[in-house]
Amino acid sequence: MSYTIPKGVFDLFPFSCKPTDTWKEIHKCQYLQYKMKEISHAYGFEEIVTPIFEKTELFARSIGQETDIVSKEMYTFTDRANRSMTLRPEGTASVMRALIEKKLYHDQSFHKFFYTGPMFRYERQQAGRYRQFYQFGVELIGLDCPEQDVELLDFLHTFFSSLGLQNLTLYINSLGNESCRQNYRRALLEYLTPQKNKLSPESQKRLAHNPLRILDSKNKDDQKILEKAPSILDYLEEDSKIHFETVQKWLKIFKIPFKINTHLVRGLDYYNRTVFEVVCGNLGAQDTLAAGGRYDRLVHQLGGPELPAVGFALGFERLLQIMDAQHCSYRPPNVPLVFIIPLGELAKEVGFEWLKQIRLNHMSAEMDLSGKKLKQLMKYADKRQIPYVLILGEDELQKEEVKLKHMLTGEEQAVALDQLLLTLKNLTPAQTS
Ligand code: HAM
Repeated sequence: MSYTIPKGVFDLFPFSCKPTDTWKEIHKCQYLQYKMKEISHAYGFEEIVTPIFEKTELFARSIGQETDIVSKEMYTFTDRANRSMTLRPEGTASVMRALIEKKLYHDQSFHKFFYTGPMFRYERQQAGRYRQFYQFGVELIGLDCPEQDVELLDFLHTFFSSLGLQNLTLYINSLGNESCRQNYRRALLEYLTPQKNKLSPESQKRLAHNPLRILDSKNKDDQKILEKAPSILDYLEEDSKIHFETVQKWLKIFKIPFKINTHLVRGLDYYNRTVFEVVCGNLGAQDTLAAGGRYDRLVHQLGGPELPAVGFALGFERLLQIMDAQHCSYRPPNVPLVFIIPLGELAKEVGFEWLKQIRLNHMSAEMDLSGKKLKQLMKYADKRQIPYVLILGEDELQKEEVKLKHMLTGEEQAVALDQLLLTLKNLTPAQTS
């Protein structure tokens, strides 16, 4: 029997196993986490960690029974006490559950949280769509002013710019409040119902339960019909209209480019007012890199007080794929400063002690324990991009010396053993890169 990885999931390695897998190198993911935390701290966002599984009804209630996620994509199982549990398909619901359960709003009426972690959706396998994927999300809870939406969008813009990404488009729309959506829903139904037979089978089904979702259909015939559909922006009530205009005003002041897409409705039920997506031309069919919006009713719907909120999440896999496609630079992977190659048994003993000393002196080092040929080991050090190799030959050891080789320049120097730690400590970063 041979064991293989399940469909729709993947491993991350310190290196890439094939040319198309360069985005799976672990140091790239670590770099993203580092940047994301650095910028989150600059914005005053605090980290929150929630469990990977929750009671199923939390997701059904918050994301919506009729959504694709809840109706066909959740990893749901019964635990040993016969309770229905679900691997989290997204992070917002869990953050809200934690907020309400611990009454975090009592001492402080607003919170700015960020989180990262794996999410699970049973999706059809295709590039950019995985069954376990890694999200970074932000939830800003407690304020309903448009400036709060802009702070979030500004964060996203700053984050993407700091990674050197190009060719991104921010699409925004407003879904208004409940009564705007009721009126719009009626107008959309009036427009679509006479053309029902020309709609795709998927959209025909949606017409009965969730007509707004027809707006983001990828079907060409649906899109043709939708060209003349009424626009939700014409149904916004005064306060939602002012909210949306103020968001746009501030985006212009902050020089954050955006486009209005009146067909943007999102696939989760909890949104109202501002919704947005960041899309990248390099991504193919699954081109949405980050997405989110305002969800002012969710805390109350889940049993908490009336607390407005706005948030987004982005998928690491899609982001890493774009960064590779656009040749963005990463922080180089962490590699040991020095690789020790002992030539012979005595050298191995001496080297093993020095290995410990170097590590105790807060420098990273690795030593060959396999006894392979020098040529092979030099090749290994080169492949790992280890900047220095320390060769311990028995002749040199007689003279209480070792040979230090700079891998990039090929320069070699003899170093007296009693000077070794000092010499290694004095290697400047410039010499090691
Ligand atoms: P979402 O649009 O479902 O929103 O997902 C956000 C992002 O997660 C997507 O734009 C995409 O980059 C990534 N993503 C989603 N599904 C997959 C998948 N199967 N494989 C790879 N990447 C995927 C949410 O999850 C909301 N919770 C966002 C939010 C936060 N809204 C308010 N606060």
